[in-house]
Amino acid sequence: MKPGVPVPVDPDSSAPLANVIFPTDNTAVEPVFSPEVTNVVQALTREWEHQDELLAAGLRPSLTALVYGPPGTGKTTLALRLAKQLQLPAVIVRLDGLISSLLGTTARNLGALFDFANRYDCVLILDEFDAIAKVRDDPNEVGEIKRVVNALLQNLDGRSRAGITFGLTNHEALLDPAVWRRFEVQVPIPLPGPVERAAIVEASLGAAPVALSEAKLIAWLTDGMSGAEVSTVCDKWLKRRIVDADTDASPADVVVQAVATTAARYGTSAASRFSNRDELMIGLARDADARFAQADIAHLLGVNVKTVRRRLNEPQSEVAHD
Ligand SMILES: Nc1ncnc2c1ncn2[C@@H]1O[C@H](COP(=O)(O)OP(=O)(O)OP(=O)(O)O)[C@@H](O)[C@H]1O
Ligand SMILES: [Mg+2]
Repeated sequence: MKPGVPVPVDPDSSAPLANVIFPTDNTAVEPVFSPEVTNVVQALTREWEHQDELLAAGLRPSLTALVYGPPGTGKTTLALRLAKQLQLPAVIVRLDGLISSLLGTTARNLGALFDFANRYDCVLILDEFDAIAKVRDDPNEVGEIKRVVNALLQNLDGRSRAGITFGLTNHEALLDPAVWRRFEVQVPIPLPGPVERAAIVEASLGAAPVALSEAKLIAWLTDGMSGAEVSTVCDKWLKRRIVDADTDASPADVVVQAVATTAARYGTSAASRFSNRDELMIGLARDADARFAQADIAHLLGVNVKTVRRRLNEPQSEVAHD
């Protein structure tokens, strides 16, 4: 496949059915995952890197992988990254877009799309894969719909050795066993834990000069957020740090601001648990796993270490009602 290759289009709307990303344009970063997820991903990648040896031994690499988990956890990034690593074009299809057109057309679109993907060595990425489940639940035109779903499943089965096919979804509970069964590899992607968040913060802040304690505070306060949100917080923080430089905001204030404006949907996000500086100080000091030193806390809150020590030694109730 070469840049400029004609991508099949929907005959009614003339909209392209897929978006092709060539390795030279593929900017996917290496996503940060837990060791468990990384192991699954590496096993899959290695199968494809060694496909010639596998084929020579009468075996073949896994052809289909279902990647599922909350929004913004790195599913698309994972699929794109694999394409980049294998130096293959990525053919990205939003299944919901493809399926929402007329049913007769949908079946034809699916056929055209898989014909296209099977003609080339490529990584086929079927995003919003749960769209298939919504089709099945539609009470209209039951027979026709079944045909579409079956066409998709058959096309999946028919994906030959031309490359791996990813199904990506945030709504894995909607998929029935017949669909799950189609995927040889299943990769659950959970929200990032503290270690992964720290690594995402480090990657997102790049070369910017950052006090370690501030990066650590970002990772700590983004508990419960996806990788995408953690990296959004980092972008906001980098900006706030500059625009708030002439205010008396402490380093912690700047982080809390960046987190709070990204966390609207988390009523219980880590940032919203602390309504004032003392509560935050105690939260930081009491989290034995996070290991914030008193000097870190002092820097973050813009006070001296003595003040931190004194405040932490006061009975909690006095501090909380300060
Ligand atoms: N695990 C991660 N490691 C590093 N960066 C991440 C991770 N997850 C998300 N990001 C950041 O968030 C952006 C969006 O992630 P991505 O599109 O891969 O998520 P997704 O799981 O496909 O989301 P959706 O379910 O909404 O499609 C990435 O470009 C990256 O900057
Ligand atoms: Mg995605």
